[in-house]
Amino acid sequence: MNDVIAQLKNHRSIRKYTAQPVTREQIEDIVGAAQMASSSSNVQAFSVIAVTDQARKDKLEELCGHQSYIGECPVFLVWCGDLSRLKSAAERHLPEQETYEDTTENFIVATVDAALAAQNAAVAAESLGLGIVYIGGIRNRSEEVAELLDLPELAYPVFGMCVGYPDQEPGHRPRLPQQAVLHWNEYDRERSENGVEQYDEVMVKYLRERTGGVKDTPWSVLMAEKLAQPARLHMREFLRRRGFELK
Ligand SMILES: Cc1cc2nc3c(=O)[nH]c(=O)nc-3n(C[C@H](O)[C@H](O)[C@H](O)COP(=O)(O)O)c2cc1C
Repeated sequence: MNDVIAQLKNHRSIRKYTAQPVTREQIEDIVGAAQMASSSSNVQAFSVIAVTDQARKDKLEELCGHQSYIGECPVFLVWCGDLSRLKSAAERHLPEQETYEDTTENFIVATVDAALAAQNAAVAAESLGLGIVYIGGIRNRSEEVAELLDLPELAYPVFGMCVGYPDQEPGHRPRLPQQAVLHWNEYDRERSENGVEQYDEVMVKYLRERTGGVKDTPWSVLMAEKLAQPARLHMREFLRRRGFELK
């Protein structure tokens, strides 16, 4: 195993930070690494808003479901899919022509670009000794987030990311056994199902240990319960208002 793989395998989300500041230069280095992620046809359809202003972080904490670490972290990054630059280019160079920025395909392209860039940033941040946690809660109240950050049309928040020096040492959260996710040459349903069974046992043990016996629900039960809850059903309408017909 080399150092990069060792660092990747050492990842755990950090939700408590020391008072040590994260410098502007560090954020610029981290975003520089993010920008070198592969990008579909080099469209680079993402933007990131680095929020350091305390009042804004506090507001975002509220909008993301009162997750206290958003207000507490020194820098909160909001990763956005962003097709506004492409649209501007089309308006400049092909003003007479119909364009297709608002398709489901371009929505996927922009979301994937944002995710790839963000994960590069996460890895870069961890290499500097920083800790991160992604915040999907940024989509709880997407409209208000877009307004607060003054996002242009065709830009939308995908997730947030708290960045700061770790003030906790959480254990690693076990992942599915590899047989559940890695298939050779064709999809093997049985291997996948057996993997989930094994993982349920691992996670029950992990949860019992981590919560002093308070929690012990198997992973597959948690996932079933999650799927049985409607989540963020406003997203389709929000995206439509951002300019995505999702044709
Ligand atoms: C897109 C995305 C959104 C997430 N949203 C949240 C969130 O809103 N709040 C939170 O505390 N953790 C959030 N997480 C962190 C996950 O819960 C965490 O990555 C997962 O449980 C695995 O744990 P680990 O990162 O410590 O290995 C999110 C992770 C991802 C990738």
